[in-house]
Amino acid sequence: RSLTTGSGGLAGFEWHEEVGSTNDLAAEAARRGASEIHLVLADHQVRGRGRRGREWRAPPGSSLTGTFLLRPGDAPVETLPLLAGVVLAEVVDAYLAPARALARERTATAPGANEGTGQERRGGPELGLKWPNDLLLRPGPNHSWTKAAGVLIEREGPAALLGIGCNVDWRGVPRPEGVVATSIAETIGEPVDRWRVLAGLVGVLARRYATWREDPRDTLAAYRDRCVTLGARVRVTGNASDLGDLEGEATGIGDDGRLLVATPRGERAVAAGDVIHLHE
Ligand code: BTN
Repeated sequence: RSLTTGSGGLAGFEWHEEVGSTNDLAAEAARRGASEIHLVLADHQVRGRGRRGREWRAPPGSSLTGTFLLRPGDAPVETLPLLAGVVLAEVVDAYLAPARALARERTATAPGANEGTGQERRGGPELGLKWPNDLLLRPGPNHSWTKAAGVLIEREGPAALLGIGCNVDWRGVPRPEGVVATSIAETIGEPVDRWRVLAGLVGVLARRYATWREDPRDTLAAYRDRCVTLGARVRVTGNASDLGDLEGEATGIGDDGRLLVATPRGERAVAAGDVIHLHE
C-alpha cells in the first residue's frame, strides 16, 4: 500500500502483525538512527501503553495502532501533544462532516420531520478534544462523549515518539473486558476503512508538523477551537506540577500547552494530569 500522499510522506515504515508496544519499536528505530517521519504500525499490541501508566487495549484488526518517530529539534515540544490532538481531530472529523451536513440539510428542509430521533434534529455527530489529546466522539449533541482515540508521547534521546491508538471500526467486535470506548464507524453508523484513516493521518501529520515547526500558533488556535475542556468545570488529578488535585473552570490553554484552571485559590497552570469533566 502506498503511504505517500500529495501533502507529504514517510521516510520509513514498519508493519508488524503483533508487537508488545509500537512505542518500544519506534524507540529502537530511534536508537538505530531512523530519520523522521518513520512509522511503526501494528495490527495488534500485547503490551500497549496508555498515558499515566495505564494499559491500552484494542481488538485486533479494527483499530489503528502506531507510532510516528519525529525529530523535532528545537521546536517547542511541550505543545507536541496538542499538535497530535489537532491531527487526529482533523482526520477523524472528515468522517463525521458528511453526516453532520446531512443532518443540517434535513433540519433546514423539513423542520420537525425528524422529531424524536434526536440526532438529525439536533445536528449529527460531533468530535471534541479533551485536554491534552483524548479524542471524544458523540453521535449527536444530546448524547454523552466517549473516547475513540488517544495519544502517548515518549522521548528517546532527541527523538519524540508519537504513539496513536485510534478505534476505527468496532461494529460487532467484542470489546476487551473493562474497556469503555467507541469507534468512528459506530459514531457515524457506517463502515470505515482503517487504511484510508491511516493515509489521512500520514498526510495531515506531515503538513501540520511542518507548519507547527515553523510557528506553533496556528496549531494552538486550531487546538483551542476543538477543545471541549475549555469552559468546562474540571477536576484534575495526578498533575505533575505539585499543585495537588484541583477543581475549577478550565479557562484557557497557555502558549506552552498548559491547561489554565480558575480555582477558588486562583488560576493554576497544569502541565500534565488527568482531567475529568464534571459536567458537559
Ligand atoms: C491514552 O489515551 O492513554 C494514550 C493511548 C496511546 C495508545 C497508543 S497505541 C500505539 C502506541 N503504542 C502504545 O503502546 N501506546 C500508543
